[in-house]
Amino acid sequence: MCGIIGYTGQQAALRPLLEGLATLEYRGYDSAGVVVLDDAGATPALTIAKRAGKLGVLVDALRDQDLSGRTGLGHTRWATHGVPNDVNAHPHLSGDGDIAVIHNGIIENFAELKAELLGAGRTFMSDTDTEVVAQLVASLVEQCRRDGNEAPGSALVQAVRIAARRLEGAFSLAFVDRRDPDVIVAIRREAPLVLGRADGASILASDVAGLLAHTRDVEALLNDQVAILTPQGVTVTDLEGNPADGHRFTVDWDIHAAEKQGYSHFMLKEIHEQPGAVRETLRARTDAEGIIVLDELRLDPTELRHMDKVVIVACGTSFHAGMVAKYAIEHWARIPVEVEIASEFRYRDPILSSRMLVVAISQSGETADTLAAAAHARAQHSRVVAITNVVGSSLAREADAVLYTRAGPEIGVAATKTFITQIVALDVLALYLAQLRRALFPEECRDQLARMEALPELIEQVLDCEPQIAELARSFAGAGYVMFFGRHVGLPIAMEGALKLKEISYVHAEGFAAGEMKHGPIALIDSGGPVVALATAGHVRTKILSNIQQVKGRGAVVLAIATEGDTEIKEHADHVVYVPEAHELLYPVLTVVPLQLLGYHIATVLGRDVDQPRNLAKTVTVE
Ligand code: G6P
Repeated sequence: MCGIIGYTGQQAALRPLLEGLATLEYRGYDSAGVVVLDDAGATPALTIAKRAGKLGVLVDALRDQDLSGRTGLGHTRWATHGVPNDVNAHPHLSGDGDIAVIHNGIIENFAELKAELLGAGRTFMSDTDTEVVAQLVASLVEQCRRDGNEAPGSALVQAVRIAARRLEGAFSLAFVDRRDPDVIVAIRREAPLVLGRADGASILASDVAGLLAHTRDVEALLNDQVAILTPQGVTVTDLEGNPADGHRFTVDWDIHAAEKQGYSHFMLKEIHEQPGAVRETLRARTDAEGIIVLDELRLDPTELRHMDKVVIVACGTSFHAGMVAKYAIEHWARIPVEVEIASEFRYRDPILSSRMLVVAISQSGETADTLAAAAHARAQHSRVVAITNVVGSSLAREADAVLYTRAGPEIGVAATKTFITQIVALDVLALYLAQLRRALFPEECRDQLARMEALPELIEQVLDCEPQIAELARSFAGAGYVMFFGRHVGLPIAMEGALKLKEISYVHAEGFAAGEMKHGPIALIDSGGPVVALATAGHVRTKILSNIQQVKGRGAVVLAIATEGDTEIKEHADHVVYVPEAHELLYPVLTVVPLQLLGYHIATVLGRDVDQPRNLAKTVTVE
């Protein structure tokens, strides 16, 4: 949700700011803006440029501008307060024009603060919560200056610390003050902010993608820490001004991993990277005897062995991975599993205890609802395991233990390789729990792991269906509505297939439990309407065949995803895409691939912006 970047160094700031924004644009792309602090003249000045629309609009607008200032901030927005237009775009200026701010998150008490500032004579230009912060900090800077904080940056730092105590909500904020040309002050609470140093410059960004052009050594700011950036270095303090340390780590991928490498879209590249990603997820998870060892899982095995229940919390695609995992954990480890959407979980009164293992799944590790659900679980003495793709993310830091999916950077807004690797990581966790609880014999665990080791090769084979899917996409693209159904592990994949399609093509799509079709959804079937059925081998296959018959009888055109060698399915479905034979619980890793490709190809037929679909963002740091 919103990408923020800040640069102060030896070179003109505009270029690193725009390059940084290009890597962060997947976080939001309703509007973009920069502010550059120019101290070349007698009076230092803040120059702002901001435009509604994608970053390219801003870049065009800046083409003939000569901005040479060496300190600046940049922002790419996913609108929360106020429509996406030029005025509501960030950066926002204080009324006196001295302070500029960029913001990711939501200031929940902005209305109350705005009323107070209006009462004090301040005026507002935009509908945003962020402008309130600019005005609040500006008024506090005035006060701090009056109190004698004249050292460079010191009034701004003081003001930001005082302001933070008045702000409610989740935010990462970065400020520049026209009178302090080389200083950026930043603060974070619940929304991510990372810092880096390179070549006489200090840089901040919402996530590591924004820093990678400069450095792989990163310091993540922790909650209520304040960072002061100058070309000479970065200082981190707490809200009282005491020296503090963020979380330091080294990123293990470089900027090239976040490039398209010849693919027309990141999403397509990431779909094709799935075999390698799964290989990475599985790498070094066992010892020489084939016993699963999860070194990242800093939890006492005895404690894990005695868990009564597993509760999975997640959002979006990660929630679907959690649904898939329920089948594996219950079947292999024989522990009851509940799966819940994080935004619902946190607002009911869930019954939790120290004998419940909460698994929080989030590719970004920054989803506000999932973080809040995990924090709530920890407060109730449950142990929290994070399944995430981002080293150093908030969820990774705040959970009791982490299992990284190691999928590499995912830039396309629609999750693909992170989804598949979440399922694989969760399957490993399921087998680990089964091993600890002796719910499976060691050789059964080894057999399952061997089947999982074969998955990358099988995914490669599934990817060969792309030409067939591209062809089908042409005939499905005109449909107003596509229905997906499945049973057992096919259900979450039906839901995921529908989600992929709707989010990138804007074609209405829903996934249903096949057995529920007759209780309502079947009324939606029209003559010629496409239905996608998950019909791989297993104990529910014959039931699915009946459900296919039911929709065929009402005029649906059925695409079945079936197991290679199943020739009978051709008598039921109009089109069949085959996946290789696999263990029933592992099919999701294979069957989702044609559905990802279907979503992708329908979206391209319709001319959609696949990597940046409307109204969405990859990292959702607001509620
Ligand atoms: C956004 C993304 C989805 C993702 C969801 C949850 O909506 O567009 O792809 O599934 O957030 O994100 P998380 O990072 O928690 O997995």
